[in-house]
Amino acid sequence: MEIPHFMPINNEMSPEFITRTTCRICGATDLIPYLDLGTMPLANAIRDPNDMTPEFRAPLAVLFCPHCALSQLSVVVPPERMFSYYVYRSEISQTWCAHCVACVDEAVVEAGLKESDLVVDIGSNDGTLLSAFHQRGFRTVGVDPARNLSESASRKGSDVLCEFWSAKAAEHLVAAHGKPALITATNVLAHVDDLDDFFSGVGIALGDNGVFVVEVPYMGDLVEKSEFDTIYHEHLSYFLVAPLLTLAARHGFQASYARRIPIHGGGLRLYFRKGVAQEPVQSVRALLAFEQDAGLHLIRPYERFARQVKSIQHDLAETLRHLKTRGRRMAAYGASAKGATLLNSIGANSDLIEYIVDDTPEKQGKTAPGTGIPIVPASYLASHRPDDLVILAWNFVDEILDKTTKFSQAGGRYIVPVPALRYIE
Ligand code: TYD
Repeated sequence: MEIPHFMPINNEMSPEFITRTTCRICGATDLIPYLDLGTMPLANAIRDPNDMTPEFRAPLAVLFCPHCALSQLSVVVPPERMFSYYVYRSEISQTWCAHCVACVDEAVVEAGLKESDLVVDIGSNDGTLLSAFHQRGFRTVGVDPARNLSESASRKGSDVLCEFWSAKAAEHLVAAHGKPALITATNVLAHVDDLDDFFSGVGIALGDNGVFVVEVPYMGDLVEKSEFDTIYHEHLSYFLVAPLLTLAARHGFQASYARRIPIHGGGLRLYFRKGVAQEPVQSVRALLAFEQDAGLHLIRPYERFARQVKSIQHDLAETLRHLKTRGRRMAAYGASAKGATLLNSIGANSDLIEYIVDDTPEKQGKTAPGTGIPIVPASYLASHRPDDLVILAWNFVDEILDKTTKFSQAGGRYIVPVPALRYIE
C-alpha cells in the first residue's frame, strides 16, 4: 500500500492541529473511532498561575486501524508546541533510573557492545539513560529538541544534538560523531507522526551491524489495565508488536529480540537489526501469539476498554465528590501528563484537589493544565496535610509511598485511581 505524504509542519504557518485520517503505519483510510475523551489541554502545558490567556485545547480521540491494528489519535498537534521546552525530567524517578541501569546491562550484551562504541539516544531527555551508558565507558550522544533538557544531558557527560530526530538529523549526527553501534529510543516513538522519516534516520545513522532498541508503552497493557490516562496529545500512536514489525520491515529492520517490560504500567522493548525478512524469532512469535489470542487485531477489546474507561471516570468522580462532601481534604502526588488526562476527564479543579505535589523544579509554582490545580514541592504535604492523597503517577506508586511515610504514619490515606480505584491505608 502506498504511504501517504504529509505537509511538513512549518513553524511560521503551523496550524493549531492537523486532523489525521490515515493510518500512520499502513496508510488505511477506514479507521474506526472507539474512544473520545473530549477536548483537552496539552497534558504537560503547565501554566503560570497569573496566566489568564485562553488555554490551548484540541480533541483527544483514538482510532483503530482494522488492517494493521495500530491505535492512533485523530489529531496531530505540532511537535514544536509540545517538545521544544519540556517539563518532564526522567531523573526525578529512582525507579526509572534503576530501569535505565538494567536496560544498559541488557543492551550491552544483546548488541555485543565494545568499550568506546558510540551509543545514541533519541529523545534523550535529561540524559538519564545515556549517563548509565557513559558510566560504562561508552561514548554517548543524545538527540532531543528540548533545549532546557539538553543542557542537563550535557552536564551528565553526553554531547547533545538539539533537534527532532529525522533522516536529516541522522545525517547531522553521522557527520559530527560517526555511526553509532547502538541507538536507543525509549518513550519517544509514540510522539512521532512521520514514523517513516524516523526509521529512515535510524537506517542512515546505524552501522551495518548496529542495533536499534525501542521501548514503547504497550497497547496490550493499556487495554488490559484500563490505563486510559496514558492517552494524551503527545502520544500519537499506541503500539502492538504487529504494526511495529510492519513498519520496521519496510525500512529493512528485523526484530532480533522482544519482551514486555514493567515500567510505566507496562511496555515493550524490541531490538532491531538490519536484515532481510525472515521468520520472527521465538520471543517475537510469543508476543504476536499473545496479541492474536487477546483479539487485539479486532475492534472488540477496544470497545470494551472504552466502556471500562467511562465506568472508571464515573466511579472516581463520584468517590472524590462524596469524600469532599464528607469534609475530607484531598491532594494529589505527581503532576504527570497522565494526571492531566485523568483529572480533566472527571472535571476536577482546585476545590476538589487542593494541590499536586511534584519534585520537578520546572513544575513547582505552576498550575496543572485545564484544572488550574497548584503544583507544589513535597514539603507542602507536611504543612498542608490532606486526608487523602491521590497518586496520579500510579506507575511509581511504591516509590511515592516510600517518599511519603510521614503522611501515611500520620493517618493519611492514598487513593490509586487506575486500573480501578483502590485505597492504601
Ligand atoms: P510519569 O508518571 O512518569 O509520566 P507522565 O508525565 O508521562 O504521565 O510522571 C511522573 C510525575 O511524577 C513527574 O512529574 C515526576 C513526578 N514524580 C515526583 O514528583 N516524585 C516522585 O518520586 C516520582 C516517582 C514522580
